[in-house]
Order: sequence, then C-alpha cells, then structure tokens
Amino acid sequence: MEMVRFARVKVFAEGMGRVKIIRGVPVLVVKRGDEFKAYVAVCPHKWYVLCERAVKDGFIICPGHGERFKVDTGEPTVGKAKSNLIELKTAIKGNDVYIEAPQRSILEELVKATT
Ligand code: FES
Repeated sequence: MEMVRFARVKVFAEGMGRVKIIRGVPVLVVKRGDEFKAYVAVCPHKWYVLCERAVKDGFIICPGHGERFKVDTGEPTVGKAKSNLIELKTAIKGNDVYIEAPQRSILEELVKATT
C-alpha cells in the first residue's frame, strides 16, 4: 500500500477537517486527539462531496440530505446512507500526516456499490 503526504500536522486544530484532491479523489482528513481519520469525501447515499465545514461535533454532516457520519468510524447515523464512508489509512511521519493513496477507480466502485 502506497502512502502519500497529505499535510503538515500543525495545520489541523482538534476536530477540524481538511479536504484535498489526491489522485483525482476528494479526501477528508480529521484530527481526533493524537490520531487522524481519513475518508473518501463522497457520501455513499447520492455522492455529494463532503467539505471541510461538514465536520462538526464529532460528525461529518452531508450537505446533500443531512446524513451524519461518526468521525471515528465513518458510520452513518441517520439512515440515508446504507454504508460507511470509505476509510483510508493514515500515518504520522515526522511533522506530516500521510494517507493511503486512493485509487481513482474507488469512486466508480462507490457509485456501483450504492446504485
Ligand atoms: S447525498 Fe449525502 S445524505 Fe444524500
């Protein structure tokens, strides 16, 4: 599994998210204590893109139809989405946060799996 640099650790405040396009895939990374959680930033309900401001009080709130995903697990709690957000592995190396490099095909697979 290939890891790619996402951002410096110090740019994150607690509970705050950052979104970047990595290899054509939007990725949301959120700081949770000493850990970082990374998800493909596309809602599995109807594929709205999740933005940095979607992260609030331990949830990632979809702007499409209001699904609320737990930041810690990516699990939906409202019932619009039938599957978790796609999680990517994270690692801290020195002063930087790294994430598992997403494959571009992951978006096509998400749409097929949720259609
Ligand atoms: S697209 Fe996210 S809740 Fe519908």
